[in-house]
Amino acid sequence: MAEAETVIKFDHVVKRYKLFKNDRERFKSLFTKKAKYKEKLATNDLSFEIKRGEGVAFMGRNGAGKSTILKMITGVCYPTSGEITVKGRVSALLELSAGFNPQFTGRENIYLKCNIMGMNNDEIKAIEDDIVEFAELGEYIDQPVRTYSSGMKARLGFAINVNIDPEIMIVDEALSVGDKNFRKKCTNKMRDIMHHEDVTLLFVTHSLETAKEFCTRGIVLEKGTMKFDGPIQEAINFYEGKY
Ligand SMILES: Nc1ncnc2c1ncn2[C@@H]1O[C@H](COP(=O)(O)OP(=O)(O)O)[C@@H](O)[C@H]1O
Ligand SMILES: [Mg+2]
Repeated sequence: MAEAETVIKFDHVVKRYKLFKNDRERFKSLFTKKAKYKEKLATNDLSFEIKRGEGVAFMGRNGAGKSTILKMITGVCYPTSGEITVKGRVSALLELSAGFNPQFTGRENIYLKCNIMGMNNDEIKAIEDDIVEFAELGEYIDQPVRTYSSGMKARLGFAINVNIDPEIMIVDEALSVGDKNFRKKCTNKMRDIMHHEDVTLLFVTHSLETAKEFCTRGIVLEKGTMKFDGPIQEAINFYEGKY
């Protein structure tokens, strides 16, 4: 069997957030290098590769840098230095309502978001009904998104992301969408997708059981630095032994 292709590559990735003392300093920074700020190191010189079809769990305490890694992969934020390569259509179950236009209806936003992900109108038309049905928004689907509650926006975001036939799926468990039944439906749908052998999964969860179900590999982070990278059970042992 041919060696699987690398779909995600981190090459010495450093991410520093700038923390400004106040809005005045933040504003100043647009014009001058003299603005005052502190720096927060979120990821420190991270290098790793992920192959097609792998399931990788990221573990670490709050603030370890897990969400920052996932956000950089989806392009929500950028590394301060180093390079990230991503090959394939990314479906991100985090920041679910990012990128919606509030003036457009839910249905129009389906087209907007899928267009941004590189799909053409025929491809979108083919999955439109599945998305609408999954989102369970009833007639609100044709109302402007600005009239939606945050839960409704998250449901629409989730419905889009799980129906686009993703090649790379990114899940930050911190998210909780809708009521118990809806969450169950989401979990089942995620299972369907993740058990497809070509789908690459990057997963952040506080449930080690769930990590074991979906991932064969675990990466343990501490203050932005990689402390362990290996088989999931060994990663869990390492993590549990430490905390
Ligand atoms: N938007 C931001 N601005 C400034 N600091 C941030 C921001 N997002 C995260 N951080 C900081 O970066 C570090 C890593 O955060 P994060 O990636 O959210 O960790 P985790 O998801 O593992 O809890 C933390 O110290 C956090 O306070
Ligand atoms: Mg996080």
